[in-house]
Amino acid sequence: MSSFLSVRDLRVHFPTQDGIVKATDGLSFDLERGQTLGIVGESGSGKSVSTSTILGLHRKTRAMVSGEILLEDEDLLKISDEEMRRKRGRDVAMIFQDPLSAMHPYYSVGNQIVEAYRVHNDVSKKAARTRAIEMLDRVGIPQPDRRVDDYPHQFSGGMRQRAMIAMGLVNNPSLLIADEPTTALDVTVQAQILDLLQDLQKEFNSAIMIITHDLGVVAEMADDVLVMYAGKAVEYGPCREILTHPEMPYTWGLLSSVPEVTGDVDAKLVPIPGSPPSLLSPPKGCAFNPRCAHRDKVPGDRCRTELPELVPGSRGPHHLKRCHLADPDQIYATEILPEIAPDLAALEQNAQTQTPAEQGTDTGVEDK
Ligand SMILES: Nc1ncnc2c1ncn2[C@@H]1O[C@H](COP(=O)(O)OP(=O)(O)O)[C@@H](O)[C@H]1O
Ligand SMILES: [Mg+2]
Repeated sequence: MSSFLSVRDLRVHFPTQDGIVKATDGLSFDLERGQTLGIVGESGSGKSVSTSTILGLHRKTRAMVSGEILLEDEDLLKISDEEMRRKRGRDVAMIFQDPLSAMHPYYSVGNQIVEAYRVHNDVSKKAARTRAIEMLDRVGIPQPDRRVDDYPHQFSGGMRQRAMIAMGLVNNPSLLIADEPTTALDVTVQAQILDLLQDLQKEFNSAIMIITHDLGVVAEMADDVLVMYAGKAVEYGPCREILTHPEMPYTWGLLSSVPEVTGDVDAKLVPIPGSPPSLLSPPKGCAFNPRCAHRDKVPGDRCRTELPELVPGSRGPHHLKRCHLADPDQIYATEILPEIAPDLAALEQNAQTQTPAEQGTDTGVEDK
């Protein structure tokens, strides 16, 4: 049987005056219900474009889109705008980094959840309001029957994020796309929101895609992880596998810059030198090569001239990498791991401390 969600060779290219921006350039991945896929990469790597295309949000733009987005074998790129509208919010929902931009300032939080519900359900306003209160309660808003009439600005950042999750989940979508859902929040609230998402996932058996630049979030949430660079997957496989045996120097770089997991402001941050390439004219060969400290280990200047394919690494067919290095395991073990061992220990700990028992601390009353 094919996957619940199967994305095949997705390309999202934007024609601009300066040329074509290849925001998503041949992306493929699979996701099952009850599973979480983490998509990680620096800002501008194409995470949001790729995932918002699943919701049909590219339809409003001049984007040139090709490939397949198969949701239960139905290609979302082929259905009509009307069918897409029916699916959006009902079968597939998205929550964003900034609830203020997703919520209307002039309508109460409750009204917006009611609307999100009534678009897809033929119910009375009263029944929808009851449902909205139930959802606010479910995401841990205290006194939901009163807070339901508040406006977004009357909620704290963490509560707005919860309210947006309530709005996103009001129709029990089978696929939830969370685009940097906790980036703007402090570490404690972030942990509560991630716990909440995991709870709701267990309850509804939903598939979740979580987009983040933070491998700490991935370590906690994801079953699989896809590392994106310049519109392409550069490493893809089971989360544990990739966190313990990363084979792509870009992933090594991301692993070296994860201070947030510990919440320790003094933690060492080793940002990857240089900045992500322009998607108008990415470097020849491997797009990461200008920033890669290991390219000279590959004979024949191949990193600068030849785009590596995304192929299985040394550890089996499930772990894919896009890199010419012949012995990444060896380099990782001798040059990288000794440097980042403390960060990895923090990641491990983060992944382990998120037990259900901890969720009792999620009172939802962090402030008003
Ligand atoms: N409508 C658009 N027209 C042209 N370029 C776009 C458009 N939307 C996004 N892009 C470009 O696509 C690239 C990927 O953006 P995005 O997916 O938002 O990155 P990420 O979410 O990983 O930070 C960026 O270079 C961005 O400028
Ligand atoms: Mg983004």
